[in-house]
Amino acid sequence: MGRKFLVGGNWKMNASKQLVNTLVSNLNAAEWNTDEIEVVIAPPAPYLDLVRSLAKPEVYVSAQNIYFEKKGAFTGEISSEFLKDLGITWTILGHSERREIFKESDEVTAKKVAYALGEGLSVIACVGEKLEEREANQTAAVVFRQLAAIATVLKPEDWTHVVVAYEPVWAIGTGKVASPQQAQDVHAEIRTWLRDNVSEAVAEQTRILYGGSVSAKNSADLQTQIDIDGFLIGGASLTGDFITIINTRS
Ligand code: G3P
Repeated sequence: MGRKFLVGGNWKMNASKQLVNTLVSNLNAAEWNTDEIEVVIAPPAPYLDLVRSLAKPEVYVSAQNIYFEKKGAFTGEISSEFLKDLGITWTILGHSERREIFKESDEVTAKKVAYALGEGLSVIACVGEKLEEREANQTAAVVFRQLAAIATVLKPEDWTHVVVAYEPVWAIGTGKVASPQQAQDVHAEIRTWLRDNVSEAVAEQTRILYGGSVSAKNSADLQTQIDIDGFLIGGASLTGDFITIINTRS
């Protein structure tokens, strides 16, 4: 079976009740081929309940992060229990903003991925290199290191619920999108890494999303690449372009 195209919208720290109403109404009114395309939106945690209650069932809702403990004295953290209580089935983990700004290490990210999967959540696990790492030809090494930390703590069957998002840090929010070939090259390397280090089946089944300045203008070209199985979209997920991007696939 082919890999189902996934379009994710990461709202980051942007929302209001009014914005939720606008974005969710637009999505509810939009149509896409649900046999071929999966749509997941990740609003900030305080809005998860509202988004889940307003969005049609074809729209999956995701947290942007969780902690690896069920409950207790962890002020400000988000528990998988909260998500399950609200009917939220996905979480993003290891976003470069978590890694950079909040100093979440490869190991912490991996621990969160394993924890989330154990709690029955599906995970969008982010990897990606910084500009100086790309310029030093370290892209593959960085991405493989981030993947290896995750693979070490997962069993092969856990990968069924993992989507990898390749987000080169230099392309995030900068308007400097990776070219289709640049993205395809890294996606193919990730797939080969999965083949060599996990299994052929996991390499074939795991969806690899591209994220970083995806827009309604560049999504059609990017999605032609064989190893690009969808997008994780930041800025454009807060606009009507999100629906245009979803439908570049159909
Ligand atoms: O997680 C999505 C992301 O980091 C890309 O952001 O604004 O470049 O689409 P943006």
